[in-house]
Amino acid sequence: MTTAYEALQQQLPRQPRTWLITGVAGFIGSNLLETLLKLDQRVVGLDNFATGHQRNLDEVQTLVSPAQWANFHFIQGDIRNLADCQQAMTFLGDRHSPAPRHSREGGNPPLPTYPVTYVLHQAALGSVPRSLADPVTTNGANITGFLNMLVAARDAGVKSFTYAASSSTYGDHPALPKVEDAIGKPLSPYAVTKYVNELYAEVFARCYGFQTIGLRYFNVFGKRQDPDGAYAAVIPKWTAAMIKGEDVFINGDGETSRDFCYIANAVQANLLAATSTNAEARNQVYNVAVGDRTTLNQLFKILRRALASNGVACDKPPLYRDFRAGDVLHSQADVAKARRLLGYTGSFLLQAGVDQAMPWYVAHV
Ligand SMILES: NC(=O)c1ccc[n+]([C@@H]2O[C@H](COP(=O)([O-])OP(=O)(O)OC[C@H]3O[C@@H](n4cnc5c(N)ncnc54)[C@H](O)[C@@H]3O)[C@@H](O)[C@H]2O)c1
Repeated sequence: MTTAYEALQQQLPRQPRTWLITGVAGFIGSNLLETLLKLDQRVVGLDNFATGHQRNLDEVQTLVSPAQWANFHFIQGDIRNLADCQQAMTFLGDRHSPAPRHSREGGNPPLPTYPVTYVLHQAALGSVPRSLADPVTTNGANITGFLNMLVAARDAGVKSFTYAASSSTYGDHPALPKVEDAIGKPLSPYAVTKYVNELYAEVFARCYGFQTIGLRYFNVFGKRQDPDGAYAAVIPKWTAAMIKGEDVFINGDGETSRDFCYIANAVQANLLAATSTNAEARNQVYNVAVGDRTTLNQLFKILRRALASNGVACDKPPLYRDFRAGDVLHSQADVAKARRLLGYTGSFLLQAGVDQAMPWYVAHV
């Protein structure tokens, strides 16, 4: 039987639409960009390169055709600046114009413009430790930036607004698996910002009739997730350390567990959410994961095995150190709501995702 996502992938190229991806130079944003361009969609991308990289955009360019790349219009801008968000609500040029980024100067006829239909708002400063070290900067990008995006998208009359929420919103709620309605108190400034996003989203529906969909990602991983820096996520950080023969540190006893979600699942959730015509699906938040739980000790072994089958041997045992402040101990999603209302399948399990992502890390680290 054809899944909702398979049907959507067949339908989209026949009806090109205009999408805005904020945080397009980042990990999730650049994977969304790659998928949408391959489906012959027009994409406006907004990023200030705070944690994203030009190299991610360059890589996407190598993976799509020149005609598909011409469907991409990049704006280097900051979501903390309302004017940048407003500017990003229109795509300049069309899929047949040689370069949508060309200016209108020089006597050329004005390029056609396309208003944005679907917004995928990914830009934010991720990482719990970063938010503990600098809550003010995290607040600016994640709350002021989010509010600016809501205002700009509402005023532009976009058809849908899908945003990156977070499993950190479950905070200290002990229940497993996590069900969308049962959240606890936030455990970090980052978690506060992601919860405030949900509150603003709800208030925009109530006060302005502007409906959104929030996707609570659970530890997303895959190619182009940054392995460098103090705030790198566990999978790219450990993978890079193993490739370089460096020590791998496990915070705590290694029995901390997570619902690791391969990037293809997150991309699927975004496209299904943005294009959903199910009225019941709007103005909701959804868990985006696979509904499984893997401990850090298990993850270490999975990564080591996957590297070995890519020709990289790693013999060093992991080093254990203290638990990290602000982290939740266990995390596992109930994904029934996304399945029921969005037709989400989230069919990539951790092992399959690691198998797909590993050659990229081996080639790029
Ligand atoms: N990766 C995960 O496991 C995960 C889990 C939960 C939630 N999220 C959320 O998903 C989104 C994407 O995360 P990611 O993993 O791709 O991170 P990322 O750091 O790779 O991407 C974030 C992008 O946003 C951009 N950005 C940051 N501040 C900006 C600003 N003020 N103006 C414009 N652009 C800005 C960055 O430069 C970067 O390109 C974020 O909102 C994050 O909080 C991610």
